[in-house]
Amino acid sequence: MRHGGALAQFHDLTPAEESFRDAVLGGLTRRAKEIPCRFLYDERGSSLFEQICELPEYYLTRTETTILGDYAGEIGALAGRHAQLIEFGSGSSRKVRLLLAALDEPAAYVAIDISREPLRRAAEQVAADFPEVPVVAVCADYLQPLRLPALPARGEGRRLGFFPGSTIGNFAPEDAVDFLAGCRRVVGRGGALLVGVDLKKDPATLDAAYNDRAGVTAAFNLNLLERINRELDADFDLDRFAHDAFYNAAAGRIEIYIRSLADQIVTVAGRAIRFAAGERIHTEDSCKYTVAEFQRLAGRGGFRALRHWTDPAALFSVHLLEAG
Ligand code: AVI
Repeated sequence: MRHGGALAQFHDLTPAEESFRDAVLGGLTRRAKEIPCRFLYDERGSSLFEQICELPEYYLTRTETTILGDYAGEIGALAGRHAQLIEFGSGSSRKVRLLLAALDEPAAYVAIDISREPLRRAAEQVAADFPEVPVVAVCADYLQPLRLPALPARGEGRRLGFFPGSTIGNFAPEDAVDFLAGCRRVVGRGGALLVGVDLKKDPATLDAAYNDRAGVTAAFNLNLLERINRELDADFDLDRFAHDAFYNAAAGRIEIYIRSLADQIVTVAGRAIRFAAGERIHTEDSCKYTVAEFQRLAGRGGFRALRHWTDPAALFSVHLLEAG
């Protein structure tokens, strides 16, 4: 069936906007200051993240892409004919092309993302490049319980969720279990999930990936203060704060903070926020797993491990999970 290369459907399920102001003031007035990592991704933050993905030290993106490219045929065969491919947080819809090229007559590609116009552009481009595949764009927060609209279906094809990039690592493990359980509900009985997971490895490699020499990760992290200055009429002096990222081996995660370089008071939306020298704002965690640890986590989310693939250096893993 030829679909003509146009978007089959666009659904706007955007939730009421969460107040950036409330989240920032709430986070900065806590004893241990923190701001949720989803706020790192304004327009500039998203573009800096795209640059991070190209950095020599940031092996995650290119390693996952190589694994997907090398094993797309096998993944396609395991997914079966007429699968409905559903991507959670589709962004630029780049990696999914490797799957679309390998799947056997996919019934649909469903791109879910919170950023409406970039989603529309990316989905339209996929529709143009894969005219045989009905493309559905759903503007929604995939972190919230999601009820998908009726999707184009063919025969007995199953639902295959796709969550690449090791974004699962940005959840605390308990929240990752909840997220996986939500995916399990979306893909339903007989469904599957393909998920990219960064692996535990020597701390030096991990530290370098989050402390690149060009300073792009630092700019990405500190952009949060610039965003607060821009949007919340704040006066953070960027020269008096620093990017601070390191691998916490006991916890198995990269921890990312913004550290105050001096005793100082910053005004945010009319509120005075005091910082001691050395005090930190926690901005992100990036959890790393062994294959066995991740398989246990997936089990708690209602999936069983069907197969996984890694690169020869065992930097990164891609897991195909089946609804348990
Ligand atoms: C989006 N996520 C998988 C990235 C990571 O590696 O945890 C976010 C990131 N933060 C700094 N560099 C990359």
